[in-house]
Amino acid sequence: MNGPYLLRIMVTAGETDTGHKQPEKPAAGKLINAAKVELEATLAARREELELKAALPQEPTDFTLPGRRRALGKLHPLTQVTEDIVRSFRKIGFVVADGPEIEDEYHCFDALNTPVDHPARDSQDTFYLNTTLTRPDGHPLPSDGRGAGGDGKLLLRTHTSSVQIRVMQSQPPPVRIIVPGRVYRRDNADATHNPTFHQIEGLYVDKGVTVGDLKGTVEFVFREIMGSDVKIRFRPHYFSYTEPSLEIDFSSALTRRMGKEWMEIAGCGMIHPAVFEKVGYDPEVWSGWAFGFGIERIAMIRYGIDDIRLFYENDVRFLKQF
Ligand code: DAH
Repeated sequence: MNGPYLLRIMVTAGETDTGHKQPEKPAAGKLINAAKVELEATLAARREELELKAALPQEPTDFTLPGRRRALGKLHPLTQVTEDIVRSFRKIGFVVADGPEIEDEYHCFDALNTPVDHPARDSQDTFYLNTTLTRPDGHPLPSDGRGAGGDGKLLLRTHTSSVQIRVMQSQPPPVRIIVPGRVYRRDNADATHNPTFHQIEGLYVDKGVTVGDLKGTVEFVFREIMGSDVKIRFRPHYFSYTEPSLEIDFSSALTRRMGKEWMEIAGCGMIHPAVFEKVGYDPEVWSGWAFGFGIERIAMIRYGIDDIRLFYENDVRFLKQF
């Protein structure tokens, strides 16, 4: 294309508008159109060339490389252990119950025969909430002696034992439940403590229930989840809501791997008559036992994990091993 020539024609064509040299106008129009078509074609070709270049891979493709796989998610190790424990208890007739993580003092302590001056209630040990239970209209709930509110001091539950009370209040015996759930304590985080952790509570109430049933049940479940070589032993202990109270130790190849023959694993005992009275069960007719253990501790022993904080850091390098 001849630029200066085109320019001259255009100027000339401009002149024709003033009335002179009219005959050059059609020729000029033709030339301008031809130039426009040529310009547009050149632009379109160049654009296509550039777009194709941008779309093509910068590096040559190696078709022998393995394909890219989308990583599959999996359950958190604590969830896996909880599900295994629940599955074992289900086999022997336990059902899962649930209760609130924001609990009142009555269910967490009073109804469990834990008096006001008990150290477990110390505000230093426990997360109290700076609020009270209220009705939707804003009035405090009347105290019905069952902790529905009234003085309504709320806290993050320190153990899942509060759910024992809620379940017994809501149904007549017999009861056979387990309660997996999150609990809170004012612990500083270190290798074996964390302010939030998880427990499984168990409660069995019926006529003529004995410590023998407790031992058989615990042994069955621990052998299922920790291996058939598990041995269990009971040691006397104290909990205000059980009498007698016991601590459970267990021993297996897993505890020996962690350098110990026996490791303490759970608290338990026969339900204290005062607890039955609080929930309206006749202690002369009904007997039962309860236990509570920490899920993290079981997971740590099972997998040989030496720091509880690893469960909460969500580091995929840790999580993808399970
Ligand atoms: N609540 C206890 C704790 O958090 C564990 C426990 C002990 C639960 C004895 C029970 C029990 O049900 O009977 O350490």
